[in-house]
Amino acid sequence: MTLSPAATLPTRQQTPEQVRAFFAAHRTVRHYTEEQMPAEHLDTILYAAQHAPTDATAQLYSFVRLTGEAKQKVAELTANAHIASAAESFMICSDTRRVRQIIEVAGYEPGQSPAIDLHFGIGDAVLAGQNMLLAAEMLGYQGCWIGGVMNGLAEIIELLELPNKVLPFAALTIGKSAEDVAQRPRLPRPLVIHENTYKDGSAEQLRAATEQMNPIAARTGKPGDWARLLNAYFGEGGSMEKREETLQGALKTQGLSRGE
Ligand SMILES: Cc1cc2nc3c(=O)[nH]c(=O)nc-3n(C[C@H](O)[C@H](O)[C@H](O)COP(=O)(O)O)c2cc1C
Repeated sequence: MTLSPAATLPTRQQTPEQVRAFFAAHRTVRHYTEEQMPAEHLDTILYAAQHAPTDATAQLYSFVRLTGEAKQKVAELTANAHIASAAESFMICSDTRRVRQIIEVAGYEPGQSPAIDLHFGIGDAVLAGQNMLLAAEMLGYQGCWIGGVMNGLAEIIELLELPNKVLPFAALTIGKSAEDVAQRPRLPRPLVIHENTYKDGSAEQLRAATEQMNPIAARTGKPGDWARLLNAYFGEGGSMEKREETLQGALKTQGLSRGE
């Protein structure tokens, strides 16, 4: 009997229980021990990052590994102290610069597609970054994505000398956990998984979902109010409105806005 090519591929197959157990153990962690990451582990998580699927074969991302003073400074600029204390911290960037340099040195003319650059660059950066985090979790680490990068975007771009067409998406910290964190809830599945056509949740479903999510906003001694938390981010006058301005500015400086 001849084997089909697919049957000769190496397999990563695990049982549904193993897969669930792996994802159930995910926790975002913000306090780390002082344990450093051995070179072999660092090499492995970077290998995982570089083996993420990628749009158009192009690998539209760059990671900036943060060490020393830069690590400290980015922790301050993002108001996320664990950037400084984590074993490894990275700035995960969309990068549609290198692809243009590659086609230029091959004698071609690069095209103009700022919105497409942003769309696929962020997608590629997230896929590679999340691959890295999953690999780190497989090795016994935990981590945290940090969108707080938006708080100091212009300063970070300057500090890390990020050129045209390179835009930070978020930072990512990885280390051995020094905190016990409960699993955080997620929305009821029918609100986020649609079949064939998009369906809004009813007001009742949305209220029930908010109840389910409330514990994620709990602080010591205070019950959680998820809608209030979301309002502080996405409501009128919330932090996302401020970030909107910051990001629009960075899109201009990084050549990712039409006409720039
Ligand atoms: C894109 C992104 C940005 C985030 N930004 C921050 C941040 O700036 N600071 C922080 O402490 N956590 C940040 N988080 C972590 C989330 O708060 C966390 O993933 C969420 O509360 C769910 O918790 P869990 O990952 O433990 O399930 C971010 C996560 C993502 C995916």
